[in-house]
Amino acid sequence: MSKDQLVVVAGGGGFIGGHLVADLRRQGFTRIRSVDIKPFDEWYQCFDDVENLQLDLMDQDNCHTACKGAGEVYQLAADMGGMGFIETHKAECMLSVLINTHMLVAARDAGIGKYFYSSSACVYNADKQTSEDVVALKEADAYPAQPEDGYGWEKLFSERMCRHFREDFKLHTRVARYHNVYGPHGTWEGGREKAPAAMCRKVIEAKLSGDHAIEIWGDGKQTRSFMYIDDCLKGTQMILHSDCLEPLNLGSNELVTINQLVDIVEDIAGIKLDRKYNLDAPKGVNGRNSDNDLIQERLGWAPSIRLRDGMEKTYNWIYDEYMKKYKGKLGPRAAAPKGAHVRDKELSVELGG
Ligand code: GDD
Repeated sequence: MSKDQLVVVAGGGGFIGGHLVADLRRQGFTRIRSVDIKPFDEWYQCFDDVENLQLDLMDQDNCHTACKGAGEVYQLAADMGGMGFIETHKAECMLSVLINTHMLVAARDAGIGKYFYSSSACVYNADKQTSEDVVALKEADAYPAQPEDGYGWEKLFSERMCRHFREDFKLHTRVARYHNVYGPHGTWEGGREKAPAAMCRKVIEAKLSGDHAIEIWGDGKQTRSFMYIDDCLKGTQMILHSDCLEPLNLGSNELVTINQLVDIVEDIAGIKLDRKYNLDAPKGVNGRNSDNDLIQERLGWAPSIRLRDGMEKTYNWIYDEYMKKYKGKLGPRAAAPKGAHVRDKELSVELGG
């Protein structure tokens, strides 16, 4: 694709979108439009040489504005978060269907060249994720449908809509199913953070406060794989430009328990903490891993960044952010003020994944 064609990143103020905009700039794209509902000062990454628009993409007119003149569109905007958010905000997650519907219609009407949709591993059938000792999920495991309630149903429906826009309206749509993406410049507090960022924050808090205990949701034996943002960016762009018509897994296949994730963060921080397990907290499926045979076969590539390496970068970034925000308030046993981690209402639109 020519570097002066207009590329639109919907959800550009969030975690993955912000990194994607940065990456497109690095590659020399000269016309980038980044769109997000959040005020600019809340964007994780915001660049002066990019056309930044603050728009609510649940509104159809705004989607037409967002897509106008575009060559390629990356649709990453969604109301979402980690388990603590999606298990308790099912209707809000499902309302992202408005964004996905209006964006597809706008992309079709604008005659854009290529359209990317960020789906999620939450589309997979829950019956295949009941054991920690999970068999990695193949793309075919999305059907028969029994996805994550709320969030997963919306993702599966929107995937399906991409398929039919491709078949019926000849819109070039490509879909990736993201498996838990993490990295710097993402949500690390407020209620929407996923386990990697949450663990970094909790370990930092414990270390700085001198209260050497950590709360872990569930029994810590549940398993996941976590994909570092750089792998996500590479795979996203490869999938958009590929001939893979059906959704592809985009995730790491390095399976760990949540306890092992905490081990890694403790090791990075150089500390050992007393673990307290909260069995009433949101837990999601018992086990989830990405089967990467298909992406390897179709693209000759799969995510490969080691969890330890990605977590070190993530931890360092969160540490700096934590210090910037709470430094003045740190006493020997005081870290973030109580209640600082309840959901931030204003962060109402995050990124797909
Ligand atoms: N968020 C969070 N915070 N999770 C914790 C914590 C904590 O402090 N402690 C333990 N966990 C556990 C959760 O209970 C869950 O079992 C596991 O860590 C992973 O939680 P998340 O990272 O929040 O989400 P997920 O992997 O279940 O789902 C995420 O990834 C999906 C794609 O694979 C979500 O972001 C989904 O929206 C996304 O589709």
